Amino acid sequence: MEIEDFRRHAHQFVDWMADYLDSVEQYPVRAQVAPGEIAGRLPASPPEDGEPMERIFADFQRDVLPGITHWQHPAFFAYFPANSSPPSLLAEMLTATLAPQCMLWQTSPAATEMETRVLDWLRQMLGLPEGFAGVIQDSASSATLCALLTARERASGWRGNEDGLAAHGVMTVYVSEQVHSSADKDVMVAGIGRENLRKIAVDDQFALQPAALRAAIEADLRAGLRPICVIATLGSTGVGAVDPLPALAEICREHDIYLHVDAAWAGSALVLEEWRWMIDGIEGADSFVFNPHKWLFTNFDCSAHFVRAPEDLVRTLGILPEYLKSREGDQVIDYRDWSVPLGRRFRALKLWFVIRSYGVNEIRRRIANHIELAREAAGWVEAADDFELLAPLSLALFNFRYRPAGVDDPGELDRINEDLLTRLNDSGALYLTQNKVNGAYAIRFSVGQTNTERRHTAAAWQAIQDTARALNSPAA
Ligand SMILES: Cc1ncc(COP(=O)(O)O)c(C=O)c1O
Repeated sequence: MEIEDFRRHAHQFVDWMADYLDSVEQYPVRAQVAPGEIAGRLPASPPEDGEPMERIFADFQRDVLPGITHWQHPAFFAYFPANSSPPSLLAEMLTATLAPQCMLWQTSPAATEMETRVLDWLRQMLGLPEGFAGVIQDSASSATLCALLTARERASGWRGNEDGLAAHGVMTVYVSEQVHSSADKDVMVAGIGRENLRKIAVDDQFALQPAALRAAIEADLRAGLRPICVIATLGSTGVGAVDPLPALAEICREHDIYLHVDAAWAGSALVLEEWRWMIDGIEGADSFVFNPHKWLFTNFDCSAHFVRAPEDLVRTLGILPEYLKSREGDQVIDYRDWSVPLGRRFRALKLWFVIRSYGVNEIRRRIANHIELAREAAGWVEAADDFELLAPLSLALFNFRYRPAGVDDPGELDRINEDLLTRLNDSGALYLTQNKVNGAYAIRFSVGQTNTERRHTAAAWQAIQDTARALNSPAA
């Protein structure tokens, strides 16, 4: 493509992008296509000759867009948000243009130095203690994997990478029953094994019970096993539970166990002073992760991983073939050894754009607004006779179900709510996710898309009530 053609198309695309953002509400939130429908529109073999961009772009709009779920739709209340913002998007355009591979300081000094700087900005914004050094990972799953690998190496006297795990006994890891599935995957990948992942009982607020943790660790020690890591969750995926860090840190200190904190979603709320209680005890943690790509207006992917001892991470993941040696040595950071993949995108730029463009005050205001919208919506549910909360509001997340008068059978209630969720999501007007709370089918409502306003939560609540009550009517 000639550069002048690139310029022309890029201008056209930017116009399309602005129009899309401006009119995203016209699309169904969740893609309404059947499995295989999009694949059926894509040619089975690649073109032998190049095609004009006009045709490619027209096909994108006709064949691809219907298969997109619109995460930036303000009625997106599913999963957790993966919110973005115009400043983040602008930075992504520049990153894509420069297309640097930022594995070493030398391969783009600005990328490395900006990453160090903006991660320290984030540390300050969240109220994390001085001394935590940050690195951007692709995902919280990767950050937690790095934590487990570091814990594993530390417990093996830094010999596990050389000897393999068999020489170092059976290692055990502790999480709450509410932990995200990435912990299961990470113990599998780290060679620890799911059999050795202990899911500890939670209290009535769904938070890990320290006494049960202590008992599990002591039982494993008596059995000759090696407890190496506790993963505490701040803001669990299902119900937003917050594990008690001070008690967990105390137990980890006593037993010399690595403590990793997974605040993938809830971490963003730490910009607000009133939520800082969640990190009481953080001084006792070895690492902490949260995802600006969830709730901090920064395009996927961007996961902020903070470690107390970066030298331990580098000792765990460092590897130095001849071609990666550089003359700067210890004067600089080479982030290649802070994560599993060698190659790294220039992700710091979008954080730099977002934080500078909004400023911390506006970021605080927006997150506080999401929390307030969720609080109000949870209140509507609580006040309705035929609905109930199944788990209390936590930050901007709550779980509820429809409970029409006279229906008490648990199986029947599950079936009704599954039907309700299917109808709501099939309508395209909003998007919600299912959950199980204490065994009961629940509908999860999570607020956090950048442009969600009260009119969207109010319309969602209206749609939920209308659809639920129509389920009982003969026309349904
Ligand atoms: C608590 C928690 N931890 C980890 C993850 C995984 O995040 P990622 O997709 O960045 O790996 C999630 C995703 O929702 C989560 O809710």
